[in-house]
Amino acid sequence: MSELAEGGREAAGAGGAARGPDLFDLTDRVAVITGATRGLGRAIAGAFCRAGADVVVVSRNATSCEMVATELRAEGGLAAGHACHVGHWDELGQLADSVYDRYGRIDVLVNNAGISPLYDRLSNVTEEHWDKVIAVNLKGPFRLSALVGERMAAAAGGSIINVSSTGAVRPTADIVPYAAAKAGINAMTAGLAAALGPKVRVNTIMPGPFLTSIARQWDMDMLARRTQTFPLRRAGDADEIVGTALYFASDASSFTTGAVLAVDGGARWGVPGASGAAVTAGRSSAERT
Ligand SMILES: NC(=O)c1ccc[n+]([C@@H]2O[C@H](COP(=O)([O-])OP(=O)(O)OC[C@H]3O[C@@H](n4cnc5c(N)ncnc54)[C@H](OP(=O)(O)O)[C@@H]3O)[C@@H](O)[C@H]2O)c1
Repeated sequence: MSELAEGGREAAGAGGAARGPDLFDLTDRVAVITGATRGLGRAIAGAFCRAGADVVVVSRNATSCEMVATELRAEGGLAAGHACHVGHWDELGQLADSVYDRYGRIDVLVNNAGISPLYDRLSNVTEEHWDKVIAVNLKGPFRLSALVGERMAAAAGGSIINVSSTGAVRPTADIVPYAAAKAGINAMTAGLAAALGPKVRVNTIMPGPFLTSIARQWDMDMLARRTQTFPLRRAGDADEIVGTALYFASDASSFTTGAVLAVDGGARWGVPGASGAAVTAGRSSAERT
């Protein structure tokens, strides 16, 4: 390998040169995870702790953040809580400053916090609804990536992971503002990867339906019919996100940046009528493959 190529790999973000026997190891890395008190973020926080990271648990609710950090420490991990509303520009500066004051570094940032409030018809989407969905799902991840990414680039590098949604590429009538924000995340991923490379990698996980607290507002019969069209015939469990998050956070993905990876049971390839094949094969939506 040429000197230039070696140098590029060393600067590949999140310690590209420090390849140990376990490519997914996060020992000594500081990871900030927004929306880490429930659902996908909570699953990622647990997995990162088990991989050795020092995890900062972020959500709006200080008590929930502290509770989850306490649970993670009880499981043997390193964790602290920090309350922050990711839709509030100024709070993001305070979050970044306080983590840098305490740890002196951030190696992994996961922009996971997101909301998808319901509406009954397009004309009932208020300006407040629109602004909040864009603020939490798009503005916040941009601002936090800018604040943390530039400091990562000026130091040892790092990995930024965004969480979008398959709604970005297959929007439905009931999620138009959310889908627009998540499509913005997908677009932002390539732009941030270009802006923050070569030392910082920026990638996006694009989930399909997962059975987290967000799912409480769904029509489960409709979901069952829909998932029957997916190649994997079901929705995901929160812990099924962690493999992808560990991949993007760790040296395992040292040559991957600007990527948007769907974790959706094949939802994008769902074909109406595929449920007939599933019934013929004697499978149900609850069945795991
Ligand atoms: N579940 C799915 O089917 C699915 C599908 C596609 C994409 N996604 C995306 O995956 C991510 C996680 O979703 P999830 O299903 O795990 O959601 P969830 O179970 O509802 O959890 C959301 C997390 O975000 C936090 N949060 C919400 N608003 C916040 C804000 N303004 N500032 C800081 N934290 C905030 C919540 O804590 P507090 O309420 O205490 O602040 C909670 O920890 C989201 O970006 C979502 O859009 C989910």
